[in-house]
Amino acid sequence: MRALLVGAGAVGQVYGRHLQAAGWDVAFYVKPKYLGDARRGFVRYPARGGRPERFEEYGLITAPEEVAAERWDQVWLCVSSPALAGGWLPPLLAAAPGATVVMLQPGLRDRRRLLELVPEERLVSGMIGIVAWQAPLPGELLDPPGIRCWFPPLSPSRFSGPPAAVDAVVGALRRGGCPARRDADATRTSALGSAVLLCFVAGLEVAGWDPAAFRRGDAPEAAAAAAREALAVAGLYHGASPGLLPLLARGWAFRLALRAATAAAPFDLPLYLSYHFGKVGDQTREALRAWEEEGRSRGLEISALRRLAGALPDRR
Ligand SMILES: NC(=O)c1ccc[n+]([C@@H]2O[C@H](COP(=O)([O-])OP(=O)(O)OC[C@H]3O[C@@H](n4cnc5c(N)ncnc54)[C@H](OP(=O)(O)O)[C@@H]3O)[C@@H](O)[C@H]2O)c1
Repeated sequence: MRALLVGAGAVGQVYGRHLQAAGWDVAFYVKPKYLGDARRGFVRYPARGGRPERFEEYGLITAPEEVAAERWDQVWLCVSSPALAGGWLPPLLAAAPGATVVMLQPGLRDRRRLLELVPEERLVSGMIGIVAWQAPLPGELLDPPGIRCWFPPLSPSRFSGPPAAVDAVVGALRRGGCPARRDADATRTSALGSAVLLCFVAGLEVAGWDPAAFRRGDAPEAAAAAAREALAVAGLYHGASPGLLPLLARGWAFRLALRAATAAAPFDLPLYLSYHFGKVGDQTREALRAWEEEGRSRGLEISALRRLAGALPDRR
């Protein structure tokens, strides 16, 4: 079996390594600027300490014509939501006719966007259950640099879509040592989770990525109010009940969650959050914008979402 992973960042490298461990032929579709680094081979570390493990013997591709020259069983989109925009994706997907496309993006409208390019019977939706990042993070010493990865307990990656295609994805990841399971609707599960997580993260960014400043001020209340609005929008958009999540999206719960998760994670969680969500800050802003627009068009309350988005630092 052959998988093409689009994007050889933290997520692409982790899933690619596990697919290879399951016996798959793996290749990465990378921007030309990353070709040199990718040719030298990747290095993987556990979440803390650990010995470097090399990841090599994968293919590297930079153009749709090279994609079209080979046959692919799966194409994994391991890029952020905003990266799906632009003209590059349609020719790439057209060059892999017949391949299952595995999407991992958390944006409200991402699946709809992809369904314009891929028939439903070839589209698998995924919810990432790993925490991975480029190491060393600032202030850390690590040689050679690589990717650190943590599998949070009870949090397998979840996939939904055509049953045979989902079985192939889940089966390969499990054989390769990556926790994974089928989900009734990973898009919906991911949309509700992202409504809480991304508002929480936006609140942390507003507090300058400083956990103490976040807990001291009213950022948790502001973020939780936005999360409740985002949950209402995401629930309506996906025809899903957000269940108990609106009750849990409260300032006190956000303070507690930050404290508990920081204590439980076997690495510096606040540093990871500032690094990762600093990197994908455009994605957070795009998510807030999408909830705001969809909420407005459905006559829902969006004032807290608007305030949170307005409080985020300008990235330009
Ligand atoms: N890392 C995690 O623990 C984690 C956990 C849950 C969810 N996620 C989500 O997974 C997605 C990817 O995260 P990540 O941490 O892997 O990000 P990342 O390390 O930045 O990797 C993404 C890679 O894809 C590349 N890329 C973007 N557009 C491309 C294109 N057209 N062709 C080829 N490569 C392209 C990026 O290049 P540039 O650097 O030039 O942009 C980057 O190298 C994000 O949506 C993130 O929120 C990540």
